[in-house]
Amino acid sequence: MKFGIDKIGFATSHLYVDMSELAVARNEEPGKYLVGLGQSKMAVIPPSQDAVTLACSAADKILTDADKGEIGLVIFGTETGIDNSKAAAMYLVDLLGLPQNIRAFEVKQACYGATAGIAIARDYLRAHPDKKALVLGADIARYGLKTSGEPTQGGGAIALLLAASPQIMSLEEEPVYRAQNIMDFWRPLGLSEARVQGKYSSDVYLEYFERLFAEYCQQNESTLNDFAALVFHLPYTKMGLKALRTVLDEVSPEKAEYYLQQFEAAREFNRNVGNLYTGSLYLSLLSLLQNSSRLSVGDKVGLFSYGSGAQGEFFTGILQPGFAEIASDQGTAQFLAARHKVSVAEYEDLYQASLQNGADLQVDFENDPAKFVFTGVKNHQRQYLKRE
Ligand code: CAA
Repeated sequence: MKFGIDKIGFATSHLYVDMSELAVARNEEPGKYLVGLGQSKMAVIPPSQDAVTLACSAADKILTDADKGEIGLVIFGTETGIDNSKAAAMYLVDLLGLPQNIRAFEVKQACYGATAGIAIARDYLRAHPDKKALVLGADIARYGLKTSGEPTQGGGAIALLLAASPQIMSLEEEPVYRAQNIMDFWRPLGLSEARVQGKYSSDVYLEYFERLFAEYCQQNESTLNDFAALVFHLPYTKMGLKALRTVLDEVSPEKAEYYLQQFEAAREFNRNVGNLYTGSLYLSLLSLLQNSSRLSVGDKVGLFSYGSGAQGEFFTGILQPGFAEIASDQGTAQFLAARHKVSVAEYEDLYQASLQNGADLQVDFENDPAKFVFTGVKNHQRQYLKRE
């Protein structure tokens, strides 16, 4: 039975900060952020957006009324959830007007959450091939102002509609994965900002990729040459480039250049948004599909998912005829180009305002043009607004 990605939706805020300006404000060479980390712009998420509103915006871009009627499972991957008990999926089901005869819940394993959702959806769709599953990956990446992690922040959401007859990419059956209890990145209860051992986390990411790619190739009698492109979880885009470089000596210099060009297409959107945590790998896939001119139906794409702590997975997909439609869609590039730039001082103010919490809170949402906004908290209950 086929199974895979039928539609992909992406959303982030309408605001960004320029990485050259952030570098100057932090007394760093702009080259460190632009080239050393591979980031040009960083999404600034205002207090009126959270994982729920971002996920709703991403899903709203792709779901038709017919899709809504076919969805039987909603899995919300996030590591920046908004409640210790209630799933973000519950708010989303309501705000999107999904039917009530569905299962909806949240999963957590750092940036691996959406990939975990795909694994669960695979089994669900095998049993219910007439249904669809909605998997969300939505997060706001926060390390703190003036920390070394700061230039690798960002935020946004990916919505994946999964189906038994996917239009964009069928997912193959042989993923390889690995889990190990380590402390490379985590966020203790009660803290809004992640704790990270930055260099160690990058080293473990690379180690996981090298092991899993080798394991996949061995199990499937495959080599890099069998792939049209590799896409990576991109906490910052240089991270994926480092991973790609570990396998390029397997191919000729001309072929290595080809994979590097595919990688440039795959990091274009992430370079201008920053880290989305759970959604980053899938934003990179969208970026590849919309920015590469060197893909064809039937091509095989490798995907590397990494969630600190740490869970890794390498899996593969085959491009389906409907990918041409998403490939020619310029909407994401236009949306990113139309965002509003804020100064470093404005970004810092928005950052501090986002950390406010309490049993009762009023959020300034009037200047946020998004369809879904977080308006505040009343008696410990989060309030959302859907603009028609
Ligand atoms: N021009 C060009 N390049 C320059 C430069 C310049 N003027 N100045 C410095 N650089 C280069 C450096 O040589 C370095 O490149 P290499 O990594 O290729 O050696 C790069 O810029 C970064 O410089 P530093 O290593 O000095 O940067 P740093 O110590 O300030 O921190 C970081 C970098 C560790 C990634 C930090 O931003 C961080 O901790 N980020 C959060 C953690 C993270 O993203 N980890 C990734 C793996 S974990 C994961 O994937 C899960 C997740 O989503 C978090």
